[in-house]
Amino acid sequence: MSERDLELKSLAEQEIEKHKETVATDPYRLNYHHMPPVGLMNDPNGLIQWRGVYHLFYQWMPFDTTHGAKFWGHYTSENLVNWKHEKIALAPSDTFDRDGVYSGSAISHEGRLYLFYTGNLDGKNGPEQENQCLAVSEDGVTFEKKGVLIETPEGYTAHFRDPKVWKQGDIWYMVVGAQSEDHQGKAVMFSSHDLHNWEHLGTIAGSKEGRNGELGFMWECPDIFELGGKDILMVCPQGLESDGMNYANTYQSGYFAGEMNEHNLQFNHSEFRELDRGFEFYAPQTTVDEKGRRILFGWMGVPEQYEQEHPTIEKHWVHCMTIPRELTWNGEKITQTPVEELSAMRGPVLLHSSVTIENDQKAIRGIQGRSIELNIEIDQLNEMFAIELFQYASLSYKDRILTLSRPHLEERSKTEFRRVGLGEGLRNIRLFIDRSSLEVFVNDGEEVFTSRIFPQPEEEHILFTSLGSTTFSIEKWDLNGYQYE
Ligand code: FRU
Repeated sequence: MSERDLELKSLAEQEIEKHKETVATDPYRLNYHHMPPVGLMNDPNGLIQWRGVYHLFYQWMPFDTTHGAKFWGHYTSENLVNWKHEKIALAPSDTFDRDGVYSGSAISHEGRLYLFYTGNLDGKNGPEQENQCLAVSEDGVTFEKKGVLIETPEGYTAHFRDPKVWKQGDIWYMVVGAQSEDHQGKAVMFSSHDLHNWEHLGTIAGSKEGRNGELGFMWECPDIFELGGKDILMVCPQGLESDGMNYANTYQSGYFAGEMNEHNLQFNHSEFRELDRGFEFYAPQTTVDEKGRRILFGWMGVPEQYEQEHPTIEKHWVHCMTIPRELTWNGEKITQTPVEELSAMRGPVLLHSSVTIENDQKAIRGIQGRSIELNIEIDQLNEMFAIELFQYASLSYKDRILTLSRPHLEERSKTEFRRVGLGEGLRNIRLFIDRSSLEVFVNDGEEVFTSRIFPQPEEEHILFTSLGSTTFSIEKWDLNGYQYE
């Protein structure tokens, strides 16, 4: 490790110490979500189960609550419930990554843990460049950088980042998010036999040609994997215009499903579908674990979407991760469900079956709290059903449309909305509420709303409203926080 590397990591650690107490007193600190110890957290990186242990790295700006020269922070867990915050994995300390150790992925090879990441050079001291780099570890906590593997090929701008690597047969593949010279988002493929020498194959998918493209001017954080017999390309396109209920956030994340031949660059696929309907969800990454499950973490934030309006900024931190979710293909689309391990956080269950509310608004005994899971099964609903969370957010269902609303984070007097159509009606809703977050899994995870919420810290009240009559059963658990070592 170079002196510069040690120096930067030590400065970042000092920053943690400096703000430790202020951060810890923030009532919006979460109970069971990954957060930065200080500063800004964004994308999940390097997600892998390696020698039995889950590793979740994250994009981290320790010195400010803005974006900039990112580090990789690091959490590990044996069970997806109890997590250890490890020492800093990577710092922007080299000539090839000095303006940011940007997003990337992990693989296991010959007993070692390999991290592929983007070395960002922002152009202020020399050319603007994004190169794909490698760091290797013997023990899973100390990483040695091996330098640049891939420079941006001809035909692309300096927006060329977020390598995701996987193996198919004997061949390693890498997909990188890119922008072509005519400003179209692209997913670019490489292959290798030894993880060091990479051949540029070409583009596997991209925004169509045309003014500003149809699917964005840049694609970030691509991920390719197989799910229930389908080949999936998950990606975050930038520059989609909002369209009715779709693409309501500043930037999107979603996927194409189809049949892919990586090597021949053939990909017959469906239309782009959004993964999440909430206010804060971006840059998801997946891995397959030892149980064969496809696990996803997402960033509970969106780049450039009123990030500086989050009230946690004054306490020197911002953003968090989603809970881990298992993906399945239900024959038509990807569904997301919280991993079953999370049930270890539950206290005793409180169950009310066959609750009927008719043209009324009610609290339900014991159904309250700020670190809870709720499971609602709808028996009968004929007009409108709504859940008011802490006089802040509201989830309401009417005319086959589910709407999440909350105060606009920038223009506080306004309310903002996110919506999704549920053609076949509402069957169930599962909510994970943490002190300042909300994750709503609808109809067994067919739709998900992921959002930060900032009600008054002491508020715990939840109200249920029905126009016409609604009958449902509800289960509630208090959730213990993650245990940190
Ligand atoms: C997505 C992203 C990635 C990049 C990283 C930098 O949020 O912009 O494309 O690698 O964040 O922190």
